[in-house]
Amino acid sequence: MRPANEELPAPVIDMTTRLGAVTFPNPVFTASGCAAAGQELDQFFDISELGGVVTKSIMLSPRSGRATPRMAETPSGMLNSIGLQGPGIEAFLDKDLAWLASRGARAVVSIAGSSVDDYAKLANKLRGQKGLAMIEVNISCPNVEDRGQVFACDPRAAAAVVQAVKRSAPTGVPVFAKLSPDVTDIVEIATACVEAGADGLSVINTLLGMVIDTTTMRPALGGITGGLSGPAIRPVAVRCVWQIRQALPDVPILGMGGIRTGLDALEFVLAGANAVSVGTTVFGDPTAPIRVLDELARALVDRGFERFEDAIGLAHKPPVLLLPEGPDPVGDELQGAAE
Ligand SMILES: Cc1cc2nc3c(=O)[nH]c(=O)nc-3n(C[C@H](O)[C@H](O)[C@H](O)COP(=O)(O)O)c2cc1C
Repeated sequence: MRPANEELPAPVIDMTTRLGAVTFPNPVFTASGCAAAGQELDQFFDISELGGVVTKSIMLSPRSGRATPRMAETPSGMLNSIGLQGPGIEAFLDKDLAWLASRGARAVVSIAGSSVDDYAKLANKLRGQKGLAMIEVNISCPNVEDRGQVFACDPRAAAAVVQAVKRSAPTGVPVFAKLSPDVTDIVEIATACVEAGADGLSVINTLLGMVIDTTTMRPALGGITGGLSGPAIRPVAVRCVWQIRQALPDVPILGMGGIRTGLDALEFVLAGANAVSVGTTVFGDPTAPIRVLDELARALVDRGFERFEDAIGLAHKPPVLLLPEGPDPVGDELQGAAE
C-alpha cells in the first residue's frame, strides 16, 4: 500500500541511519504532535515503512490542552496552541504504544513535563516497553502558560531535565532532547544537553508566534500565542541544524521544520541531520512522510549516492569543482602565467 510514485521501481540505495545506539532502516520519521500515534496515517500507508513514528508529547496525567481556537493559518505555515492535550502516560502505554508495537513500528516516544521530576517519572514508565526505539524529550513546547517552563530556553534547566531522563530511561534507548529555536544561542543549549548525556538532538520545535484577527480585532488564538510551523520556518530550522552540526560534529540530529518534499529533507541532511521528521505537511497530505522518503531516496540516487549516510553534513565540506574532461584551460593558463 504505497501511493507515492507507484509506477517507478524503488531506487537502490542503503537508507539506513544510526541515531545513537540504534540503527533505523531509513531516515524519515513523523513529527511529534502531527500524526498522533500513527493510527490515522496507517490508513494511507504502512506506518512501519517509516524510519520511526514520533508520538505526540505525553505527560504524566491526562490533559485537555489550551483554550480554543487553537489553530490559525499563516503565510506558508500555521500557528497552533494545542498545549499538550493527551490521555496521560498510562493510557498511552496501554493503547498507543501497544498498537505501534503490534504494527512493528519503531516508536519514538515524546515526553513532556512541568518539572524535572515529571520527566524522570515518565522516563521510568518507559522501562521494558515493547516497540520503544527512542525517547524524544520535549523541553521546548511553546504552548505552556508559564514561559519559565520552557526548559530549552536555559542551558542549566535543559541539562537538569536531560540528566534526570538519562538516569531513569531504559538502557540502550537513545534519548534525544528537542530544542527551541527561540533562543539567542542554540549551540549553547545543544552543548548543555549533550554534556548532560543526551544521545542526540531534535531540531527544531515551533517558533513562538501570534496572529491578530483584524475582524474581531483580538488575538486569533484562545491561548493568544502559539507555535509557528510549516515551510515558513524551514530556513530557521536548517540554520539551527547547520550551527549544531558545525559545533558538535559527532552528535546525531533529527531535523525538522517545514519539510514538504524529498528535496526539503535533503537540505536538512546536507546541513547535518542524520534523520528528518515530517510534521505540518501531513495535515494537507497524509501520505507526505512516505512520499518524502521515496523522493529523498531518488534525489540521493540522482546525485550518485549509494548510502544515505554519505550525504549527512556534506554542505559543510568544500564544494567539488565539476571540471570539463580533457585539458584544463584554466590550469594551462595559470601554468603559462607562472612561467
Ligand atoms: C499541531 C501541532 C502539534 C505539535 N505538537 C507537538 C508536541 O506535542 N511535541 C513536540 O515536541 N512538538 C510538537 N509540535 C512541533 C512539531 O513536532 C515540529 O517540531 C514543528 O512543527 C516543526 O516541523 P513542521 O514544520 O514540519 O511541522 C507540534 C506541531 C504542530 C503543528
